[in-house]
Amino acid sequence: MGKCVGILTAGGDSPGLNAAIRAAGRALAHAGYRLTGFKDGFEGLAFDRWVALDEHTFSGILTIGGTILRTSRNKPNKMPVGKKLLDMTDAIIETYHKHQLEALICIGGGGTHKSALLLKKAGINLVTIPKTIDNDIAGTSGSIGFDTALDVATGAIDSLHSTASSHKRIMLVEIMGHKAGWLTLGSAIAGGADVVLLPEFPYHLESVVNALKTRAREGKLFSIVPVAEGAVDVETAAEIAKLEGELAALPEDDKKSRIELKTRLEELTAYRPERIFELARQLEARTGLETRVTILGYLQRGGKPSCFDRLLASQLGTRAAQAVIHGEFGNMVAFVQGKTKLVPIEEVAGLRKLVTPDHPWVTCARELGICFGE
Ligand code: F6P
Repeated sequence: MGKCVGILTAGGDSPGLNAAIRAAGRALAHAGYRLTGFKDGFEGLAFDRWVALDEHTFSGILTIGGTILRTSRNKPNKMPVGKKLLDMTDAIIETYHKHQLEALICIGGGGTHKSALLLKKAGINLVTIPKTIDNDIAGTSGSIGFDTALDVATGAIDSLHSTASSHKRIMLVEIMGHKAGWLTLGSAIAGGADVVLLPEFPYHLESVVNALKTRAREGKLFSIVPVAEGAVDVETAAEIAKLEGELAALPEDDKKSRIELKTRLEELTAYRPERIFELARQLEARTGLETRVTILGYLQRGGKPSCFDRLLASQLGTRAAQAVIHGEFGNMVAFVQGKTKLVPIEEVAGLRKLVTPDHPWVTCARELGICFGE
């Protein structure tokens, strides 16, 4: 019997996870290793829920979205057990040794990398693979699922054009991405949007109104406005920054004030679908133009992975297998300038890759005349 490697998928799912599991599994099998899949993210390790993976399991999964291992956002040190959140790191280490694992491959996004760092520090041999439709993982330009989601969002914007034009409407389309605007900006450019609102660039309602009115005056009778789910106006952004500053200045032991501040921050930053409807009402009132909302939601995470995501997942998966075989533990397999590269998990965990004002996509959007509402 060959050496055994564990694999899991954690965080929100994204198209291409199965392609990565298959790639890592096949490359490891060729080198004589066995692969064990842990179910539901880190839960599988905490509660020893597993499945043996082999050639039969990998067959036919390349093109299927989601993850055959299922996933969850539960963290090793804050695992729901009954009504409590418990630190299950010791149980995870026990499972790791019980299965005599040579290493663990974790496929995940920002949260997964924080958990992976914790397990790395606890002595587990880890290799991670970046996946998220948000494209916000530090240290890598590519993450599995982003390209597919970009296609979905762009396709939606394409479809909205004809109905927007027929009814002379403003179409707001809410796009995922958590606190990053990559998906919204990319689809805005690829779909030919007119205004784009991103979390990274808080908007002035007045500027958005002016841009839409100017278009109407110029005889452009409809407008397409992709809005990132994390986009906020300048007033809200200022309030968030103020509360974050106050929280940072509070002593650790002032628990009551900390909880109050965190609750207020949560109210301002948590995802709420009402926000985009409120924005639509404001825009309609201020422009006099009929305004409608489309929320793309989980459609962006579903379906078959694109060719690019299959290629990316296959390259990252096989490279992760090589990292295990060569004992290059504690690293994320990044994708930078068309090549895979190992980056220490410490350089990734807790960081978020955001859209910057000097990014070529921003420059391009500005030159195309897309308004950011600044
Ligand atoms: O990280 C991927 C993502 O789809 C984000 O874009 C979104 O904010 C979040 O997950 C939604 O999370 P959940 O699946 O927990 O609703």
